[in-house]
Amino acid sequence: MSDTDKSRRIKDLDAFLEESLREKQPEEVKEFYESWANTYDEEVSLFNYNGPKLMAKEFAKLNVPKNVEVIDIAAGTGALGEELKALGYTCIDALDGTKGMLEVARKKNIYRNLFQFLFGCDDKSPITNGTYDLAVSCGGIGPGHIPYSAFHDILAMVKQGGLVCWLTVNPKEGEEKETFNSVITELKDSGKWEAVQDPVRVEEFYKKEFALFYVMKKL
Ligand SMILES: C[S@@+](CC[C@H](N)C(=O)[O-])C[C@H]1O[C@@H](n2cnc3c(N)ncnc32)[C@H](O)[C@@H]1O
Repeated sequence: MSDTDKSRRIKDLDAFLEESLREKQPEEVKEFYESWANTYDEEVSLFNYNGPKLMAKEFAKLNVPKNVEVIDIAAGTGALGEELKALGYTCIDALDGTKGMLEVARKKNIYRNLFQFLFGCDDKSPITNGTYDLAVSCGGIGPGHIPYSAFHDILAMVKQGGLVCWLTVNPKEGEEKETFNSVITELKDSGKWEAVQDPVRVEEFYKKEFALFYVMKKL
């Protein structure tokens, strides 16, 4: 690819990235990712998406035993799963709303089971309550993605004493931020989870954007 082609492509990608973060209905999000699935891995590297590597680095510091049962929420094409596998985790399942993304992930042989489920749209979660020791999610929760209300469902998938960890760009001021804080607080106040540590800021989640790494424990 010539330098001109590359810079034109990156400009298009900027618009695409902006579109990916626009608030939309889950069905529209799904359509967006269905059309992106086959080029996702190649294209996210063009805007320096470092989420899975950064999350794995922070997660490793928690020294979670390697034999835990893990569900990767919004697993996409499996980038976080690959990082966790490299750390020595082997019992990892994937959940995502987009079939095409899961099909790319399936070919990488990282996950034991892959579940298609669209939070905020599909009715019944395919996961039995209390199945996993750990739920992880990278770049999959927030505007244009999984609604914050899904924290209730994600927490239900985890065993008592298990962890829910995620890395995403924090919501900006406004309604989104209020909803985010209110769901987190509601689950805290009702004694359903507690923070294991303060959110950790990581730089260059993509480009120059930072993100926050959260670790909550199910009570
Ligand atoms: C930016 S990708 C992240 C994928 C992977 N975790 C990574 O870091 O490369 C976001 C993923 O969230 C999924 N997703 C978005 N909204 C969803 C929803 N409501 N329910 C389930 N999956 C959703 C998309 O299908 C997509 O695969």
